[in-house]
Amino acid sequence: MNILVTGGLGFIGSHTVVELLSAGHTPIIVDNLVNSKLEVLNRIQKITGVRPAFTELDVADEAALDKVFEKQPIDAVIHFAGLKAVGESVGKPLEYYSNNLCSTLTLLRCMKKHGTKNLIFSSSATVYGVPPSLPIKEEFPLGETTNPYGTSKAMIERILTDFSKANPDFNIALLRYFNPIGAHASGELGEDPNGIPNNLMPYITQVAVGRRDHLTVFGDDYETPDGTCVRDYIHVVDLAIGHVMTLKKLMENPGLVIYNLGTGKGSSVFEVLAAFEKGTGVKIPYVVGPRRAGDLPFLYANCDKAYKELGYKATRTVEDACRDAYAFQKKNPNGIQ
Ligand code: WQD
Repeated sequence: MNILVTGGLGFIGSHTVVELLSAGHTPIIVDNLVNSKLEVLNRIQKITGVRPAFTELDVADEAALDKVFEKQPIDAVIHFAGLKAVGESVGKPLEYYSNNLCSTLTLLRCMKKHGTKNLIFSSSATVYGVPPSLPIKEEFPLGETTNPYGTSKAMIERILTDFSKANPDFNIALLRYFNPIGAHASGELGEDPNGIPNNLMPYITQVAVGRRDHLTVFGDDYETPDGTCVRDYIHVVDLAIGHVMTLKKLMENPGLVIYNLGTGKGSSVFEVLAAFEKGTGVKIPYVVGPRRAGDLPFLYANCDKAYKELGYKATRTVEDACRDAYAFQKKNPNGIQ
C-alpha cells in the first residue's frame, strides 16, 4: 500500500519507513527538515536499497500537501510530523500549538478531500498526565498535561476523536508511545536531537563517545526502589514494527482505536546505566543533580490491549537498545551529517 509518512525523516519516522519497506509497503515521505536531515533518506536507501519518494514541505502548507495527494493514491497516513521537545515547548507555546495542531487539521482536510480514510497518529504517554494507577491502561482518562507539547498531543487526540465521530468511515489509531530509545542495528539510523539532548538515552550516548563530560541524574530521592525515576523504555525498532502491525489492523477495524506501545516493564535511570555498561562495556560517569520539574516517579504501560488485538509485543530489551544506540552514536559521533 501507498503510505504517506509525515515527519518520515525523523527518529521514529525513519525507523518506521524501513519497517514499512520490509513489509512490502510503499512509503511516501514528507518532512520539513526542522528536526531531521536529508541525509536520513540516503541512510534509508543504504539499509533497504530503496529510496522512498520524498517531498520537503510543511504539513500545514495545504497547497503543497494537496499536490502530494494528487500525485498518487494514498492508502493510509502515519502522522509523525510535529515539534516534540518538552522543555522547549514551555517557552514556545504558540509555535507548538500552531505547528502541531494546524498540521494535523490540514492533513485531515487533505485526507477527506482525496478519500484517504486510514490514519495512524503518533501520540504519547504524556497525555495520561499523572495516571490514577499503574501500569497505565488505554481506558484511563486523559490527564493534566504539564507542557504545551503534551497538551498539543492531548488536543490532537480530542480532534481525532471528534473527527472520527463525524466521519465513521475513517479508521484512526492513536498510538501512545512510552519512552522510545535505541537505533537501527546497522548504526545508520538513530536518535539525533538538535543541541543538548533533553532525553536520557541520547545524553548517555553523547557522554559515551566523549561529546559530553558526564550525565546528570535528575534526582535520586524519589519513592522508587533505587530513588531514580522509572520509565517504560521501548526499542525504536519495536515501536516501528508496532506501526506496521497497527496498519494491518486498521483496515479491518472501522472507527478509532487507542494502543499503548511500550514493554510493560519499568526501568530506573540507574538500571538503564547498568544496562548500558553491560551492553556496551562503557561505564557512564554521572553526578546526581536536583529533580527535573514535571518528572513523575513511575510511568510504565499495560500492553495487554496491543497484544490481544494486534498480536503485538515488544521483543528487544533495554540492553539491546543501549547497544544499538551506542553503535549509532559511535558511527555518527557528531550526529547524522
Ligand atoms: C527519562 C528519565 C529523567 C535526562 C519524555 C517526554 C515524553 C516522551 C519521551 C515524546 C527521567 C531522567 C533524563 C537526563 C536524567 N517524548 N533523565 N538525566 O521525561 O520520561 O519522557 O520523552 O513523546 O513525552 O516527556 O524521558 O528521557 O527525558 O527522561 O536523569 O539528562 O531520565 O529525570 O527520569 P521522559 P527522558
